[in-house]
Formats: sequence, C-alpha cells, structure tokens
Amino acid sequence: MSMERTYIMLKPDCIKRGLIGSVITRIENKGYRIVDAKMMNLNEQILVEHYAHLKDRPFFKDIVEYMTSGPVLGMIVEGENAVKGMRILMGATKFEDAQAGTIRGDYAFSTSENIIHGSDSLENAKIEIKRFFG
Ligand code: PPS
Repeated sequence: MSMERTYIMLKPDCIKRGLIGSVITRIENKGYRIVDAKMMNLNEQILVEHYAHLKDRPFFKDIVEYMTSGPVLGMIVEGENAVKGMRILMGATKFEDAQAGTIRGDYAFSTSENIIHGSDSLENAKIEIKRFFG
C-alpha cells in the first residue's frame, strides 16, 4: 500500500445531471481526500493530448465534441492506493459492464457519457495532474 495521488475528472454529463455532490460523497466516503479541484472548459488541444492513445478509434471525434460540450470538474484525489482504488470505485469503462454499486454502474447509461475519468496508472496520474493542474 502506498499514498498516491490520481487525476479524476467529472465529465460534462455528470455536471449537467447535477451529480457532482453524489459522486464526490462516494469518493470522500471511501476515505479519499480531494486536495485540489477546478471547473474547466476544455479546448480541443488539451483533449487531443489527453486522449492521444485513442486518436485512431472511430469514436475519437465524438469524445472531443462531448468533452467540449460543457464544463468538467478536474480533481486531484489522494489516498492509499488511490489510482487503483478510484478505478474500482468508478467501475468499468463500458457502462454495460459496470457493476451496481460503482459510480458508473449506478449512474452511467452510455460508454462515451460515462460520468467520470480516472488515471489508469501512477505514471499517467502524474502526467495528467501536470497536464490539468500545471
Ligand atoms: S480502450 O482502449 O477502449 O480500453 O480505452 P480506454 O483507455 O479504457 O478509454 C476509453 C475512453 O474513451 C471513452 N469512450 C469510449 N470508449 C470505448 N468505446 C466508445 N464508444 C467510447 N466513447 C468514448 C471512454 O469513456 C474512455 O474515456 P476515459 O475518460 O478515459 O474514461
């Protein structure tokens, strides 16, 4: 076990549906600490960088369109094993695979509009925190 920081982003559908409070409550109830947070309107440039590994996927244009459709809430979340722990709390990326009791399992009904993003490794967490918080 180790104290880690991960990058979490509440996506535009989460904000539009008024779920910020519900999602943050789950994160805090689990014992993680939000050490920084900011509302942002993302531009195409930062999204092309953030989702570079998906640039050849057929849904890439849709992700950029969706992620620029409204504000997101970027957060630095800290805790024991926060990177893996947050991924478990979030649930599977594909909404139909996300188990009940997870954030996506309980709130998401689409794979593109799936409420929340979380870094998938400690290495990427460091890169993403730098990308969005400088
Ligand atoms: S992979 O290769 O599908 O496992 O990609 P992954 O790194 O897990 O992240 C996929 C991100 O793209 C968003 N997205 C979709 N994924 C799969 N299928 C469709 N149609 C799709 N549309 C959007 C998905 O929500 C993941 O976003 P993040 O922000 O990384 O969670």
